[in-house]
Amino acid sequence: MAAQAEPVLSAERIRKAFGGLEVLSDLSLNAYAGESLALIGPNGAGKTTLFNIIAGAMRASGGRIMFEGRDITRLRPHQRCHLGIARTFQISQPFVDLTVLENVEVAQRFGRLGRDRSGASAGHWLERVGLARWRDAPASSLTLGARKKLELARALATEPRVILLDEVMGGLSPEEVDEVCAIIRELRNEHMAIVIVEHVMRAVMSVADRIVVLHQGRLIADGLPREVASRPEVIEAYLGGALDDAAAG
Ligand SMILES: Nc1ncnc2c1ncn2[C@@H]1O[C@H](COP(=O)(O)OP(=O)(O)O)[C@@H](O)[C@H]1O
Ligand SMILES: [Mg+2]
Repeated sequence: MAAQAEPVLSAERIRKAFGGLEVLSDLSLNAYAGESLALIGPNGAGKTTLFNIIAGAMRASGGRIMFEGRDITRLRPHQRCHLGIARTFQISQPFVDLTVLENVEVAQRFGRLGRDRSGASAGHWLERVGLARWRDAPASSLTLGARKKLELARALATEPRVILLDEVMGGLSPEEVDEVCAIIRELRNEHMAIVIVEHVMRAVMSVADRIVVLHQGRLIADGLPREVASRPEVIEAYLGGALDDAAAG
């Protein structure tokens, strides 16, 4: 899978500083079509910052972002979305005055196909994430779990080649986590490149083909899930805490 192909997306030697504080240091990462990659690490490690830089919401202090062989470092977020890079937000940000369906329709218009109607319908994406019965409800009426699913539907509706999922499973019930894991596996099988930031380790271990561990802005591990999860430095930096969290709630 991964080894045979060129990466769809590469972050190359990314550096990001906020004032004097360097939060990403010389960070390189490849995402491949048909691979589900989990990016894990403690709070404050720089995961969301990296997503912001890949999606174009933030400018890196150094390094570049390549997408399908093209340097997109200077493109604006909507241009990247149009090329096929989608992301969800850790704190979901629906248009609360619009219905659930309308939220997905807006996302479609910003997506890779734009006004071209050849892609799947907005209703299709709601069905896919299990929100079809809420299509005409105002987005403001959704529970946290349903909002997370709407985030996912909005990202999918842009018909991305790469999808960045930032803690989409936080706050979901165990059943909902399983549903989202099943969707991620389907997308992977449809050759999307998937990058998930996730604290729900059960989900990470069940969907990730590869795990990278970010700690204080640097990658400290990159490999197969079982192998990475058993490394002492990973357990020390992250997994001990995550397992405690899992036990607590
Ligand atoms: N806009 C910002 N301005 C200043 N510091 C920020 C900003 N965004 C993130 N940070 C800092 O960058 C570090 C990494 O944050 P973040 O990328 O959100 O981590 P994670 O998603 O891994 O929890 C943290 O120390 C955070 O406080
Ligand atoms: Mg974050």
